[in-house]
Amino acid sequence: MVPNESITNILTRVTVRKFLDKAVSDEDLQVLLQAAMSAPSSMNLQPWHFIVVRDEALKQQMKEHLPYAKMINKGCIGVVVCGDVSLYEHINKVDKEDNTLYWVQDCSAASENLLLAAHAMGLGAVWTGIYPLESRVDKLRSLLSIPSNIIPLNLILVGHPAALPLPKNKWNERKIHYDKF
Ligand SMILES: Cc1cc2nc3c(=O)[nH]c(=O)nc-3n(C[C@H](O)[C@H](O)[C@H](O)COP(=O)(O)O)c2cc1C
Repeated sequence: MVPNESITNILTRVTVRKFLDKAVSDEDLQVLLQAAMSAPSSMNLQPWHFIVVRDEALKQQMKEHLPYAKMINKGCIGVVVCGDVSLYEHINKVDKEDNTLYWVQDCSAASENLLLAAHAMGLGAVWTGIYPLESRVDKLRSLLSIPSNIIPLNLILVGHPAALPLPKNKWNERKIHYDKF
């Protein structure tokens, strides 16, 4: 099979941690967020919210307080992907129990869509972990005035890549199991 553009985009996506000092345009940001919001979600509840961080002082504070976000520079923007856990209060008890924890998967699917869109557009991105590490969740909560029903899952940095690492070959047949593990 000849891979099409979408498959090639998936196979060549890499984490980018060095960004040029060149702004991400509003148009590009809109496409990134549209891609993120196109993700599947449990019961189509779309529990995600996105906090776009462009303010240089805030970015600097995030850089100081988040140990794995030291690659923040002037060129990149931050997108904090959050989940609204209060959505599940409005559905019946059985569904609530079944769905409460799905916000992580839903928001992860949105995050991956954003990473793939960035790569397809010639931008670069890195997912930096926030949830479930309480100290990081609390830090972002206070820096960005995040209410208690909203949980920040990650901080994605997006920018124009200063260097594009080679994609890692992750194909591993030993990870595939047929009919039983
Ligand atoms: C849940 C999660 C948390 C991650 N946290 C960080 C992080 O804090 N800092 C970082 O530089 N990269 C982080 N990454 C990116 C991974 O290091 C990266 O995806 C992995 O090394 C594979 O490289 P690739 O994305 O280029 O294929 C994270 C990725 C995921 C999915």
